[in-house]
Amino acid sequence: MTMQRGKLITFEGVDGAGKSTQAAILAARLRRRGVDVVATREPGGAPVGEAVRRILLEQPEELSDVGELLLFFAVRAEHVHNVVEPALARGRWVVCDRFADASYAYQGGGRGIPRARIDTLVEWTLRDLAPDLTLLLDLPPERIGERLQARAPDHFEAEEEAFFRRVRNAYLDQAAREPARFEIIDALMSEAEVARRVETAIARRWPEISENV
Ligand code: TYD
Repeated sequence: MTMQRGKLITFEGVDGAGKSTQAAILAARLRRRGVDVVATREPGGAPVGEAVRRILLEQPEELSDVGELLLFFAVRAEHVHNVVEPALARGRWVVCDRFADASYAYQGGGRGIPRARIDTLVEWTLRDLAPDLTLLLDLPPERIGERLQARAPDHFEAEEEAFFRRVRNAYLDQAAREPARFEIIDALMSEAEVARRVETAIARRWPEISENV
């Protein structure tokens, strides 16, 4: 019998939208139902990734826009090779906090890097790998400031509202290009309500692993 390939579920959204919390909630729920889950994140998710994450988030002054883009894809290539692909091949489900859509949003929308260049890197590093479901937690940019106030700003969180407006629009553009893959969820709703929407999206696609919510 051939092993059924696992599913790749990604969370996306601007900083402060609550992705990490929702990714953790989903991973825990899936595990309770007996799904073998790998919870991971980008940038990071493997030793090289965690090291480069510190460069990306803490030493921005040394980075050009192109350098930043390539570092994100270098980390992604390692992450896909070492973590995501092996897990999917063994039938495990991967819940990933950010993936390639974040490069279209931040490096494309935010920094203004042409889409075609990012397409090339995606083809190169992901080949035919694509998420089975992407949950986009959508937050209006004028509400981002208050969500970030509680944290010490990293490189990206210190950007101004106009930057996040472009990031958000690029995410919505990604969703419009691939409506079947994306689920847009209003991140202004309560944590419990967002979790319920996530669950509904999962249940619609994979009724066999859903539970009553
Ligand atoms: P994030 O997961 O939001 O970290 P944390 O929740 O710990 O603050 O990711 C860190 C930042 O990296 C975030 O501001 C978005 C940015 N980023 C990109 O610019 N491009 C990418 O491809 C990825 C994966 C992240």
